[in-house]
Amino acid sequence: MKIDDLLAFAKSKGFFWQSAEIYSGASGLYDYGHLGSMLKRRFEALWLSYFVDSGEDCYLIDGTTMLPEKPLVASGHAARFNDILVGCSKCHTYYRADVLLADNKVEVSEGADAVEIDKVITAAGVKCPKCGGKLLPSKPFNMMVDVHLGPEKTDKGYLRPETAQTAYLNFFREFNVLRKTLPLGLAVIGRAYRNEISPRQGLYRMRELIQAELQMFFDPDEWNNAELWKSQIKEMEKRKMNVVPYKTKKNEEVTVRELVKQGVPEFYAYRMALIHRFYTEVLHVPAEKFRFLEKGGDEKAFYNKIHMDIEVNVESWGGFKEVGGLHYRGDYDLMSHSKGSNQDLSVNINGKKVLPHVLELSFGVDRNVWMLIDVFYKKDAERSVLQLPYALAPYYVSVFPLQKDERIEKKAAELYRMLNSHFKTDTDVSGSIGRRYARMDDIGTPFCITVDYQTVEKGKDADTVTVRYRDDKKQVRVPIKELVEFLKKAYV
Ligand code: GLY
Repeated sequence: MKIDDLLAFAKSKGFFWQSAEIYSGASGLYDYGHLGSMLKRRFEALWLSYFVDSGEDCYLIDGTTMLPEKPLVASGHAARFNDILVGCSKCHTYYRADVLLADNKVEVSEGADAVEIDKVITAAGVKCPKCGGKLLPSKPFNMMVDVHLGPEKTDKGYLRPETAQTAYLNFFREFNVLRKTLPLGLAVIGRAYRNEISPRQGLYRMRELIQAELQMFFDPDEWNNAELWKSQIKEMEKRKMNVVPYKTKKNEEVTVRELVKQGVPEFYAYRMALIHRFYTEVLHVPAEKFRFLEKGGDEKAFYNKIHMDIEVNVESWGGFKEVGGLHYRGDYDLMSHSKGSNQDLSVNINGKKVLPHVLELSFGVDRNVWMLIDVFYKKDAERSVLQLPYALAPYYVSVFPLQKDERIEKKAAELYRMLNSHFKTDTDVSGSIGRRYARMDDIGTPFCITVDYQTVEKGKDADTVTVRYRDDKKQVRVPIKELVEFLKKAYV
């Protein structure tokens, strides 16, 4: 699928579109419609269930998106959360330097500073793509969105640039309120804000985004021995994953054991496998479309010791793209906030003073929603189908009265109400049955139920309905009294 086709599809069906659309839209800001909200909610529910509810010692918390200035000065974001900005001397259009260079097919390392970028721009003779004007010297541009609160707007703050900060700011209280042990995982699903210079590619680069992040706080001397891992090691060790190491930049299929041999710490390698299992067995992304891309040198975010992007091959974005990240942040965060707040955030574990280290599992919710549509939307000469795994489908089932007949319509309405108390159910009474199936295929509804004359009249098929499967279009006749059980059993 091409990017514009995916956007047009998402808009026409009710998944997402630009905010303030009736005012011709706002760059980098998107609203979710009814189907998009359902798909997003299903992704978040699977994520929560897998990483938080099934993860030992993990808890979901929530926090404000608006923060005072101090924590974000302490975290380093005020000084270092920068992109390199380059402007045109003639028409004053501004560009994100790495994006401008990529558009011109000029290579530059991901963490290149302004001096390096200017050298590359001069060497390649890059000009303003809009007017051909000479580019001004590039400069760092802080991506945080600042807010000014109070009656005189003198209280400076920022919208959080990552949900992670909510977990760091609440770690100390949660540790003391909970069982005072490590590891401790604090998860947040919520909004973060970045003043992107060039928002683009639909839900890829956004100014307001939704993150699902889990921060694991741990004692670096102990974590590899944690009980949880002893029990899971066997299954995890055999798992083969695609990894592109920073050194070779070549894709390798490796197991956890091999990664550990190559020097990746055990706690990190096992969580790579955990993430791999989530993508390939929970979201059902084909394994060949999934990989980890290791970042090194200046490419790493400033707070990371080990940094791997979680990437999926998304056709509409032109190949493998980041949908999340696994970041070993060391003691950077709690150390920074200890200094910034003048409060020692180290904890006492069996008489030992520990400043916990952090392993962050970070996921862009919007990017994953887009990725799911891209990966599961199939179109051929005959039909188009959004072949989402059932657990992600916005509606699980839809009910159609086949003919315009009062008895049939009444029975369909009854069935709709009954099924909707078990599964998210839709109903459609307009157009030919073929068009109604097509509409449900397009939005990924796994089952369609048709009520017809046989349902409402005496005979061998009385009180039965037709159940049609989305994926192979197979149809079976099922007694209404067995329908809920049938659909529950079919749920995979
Ligand atoms: N918390 C990591 C990130 O926002 O990329």
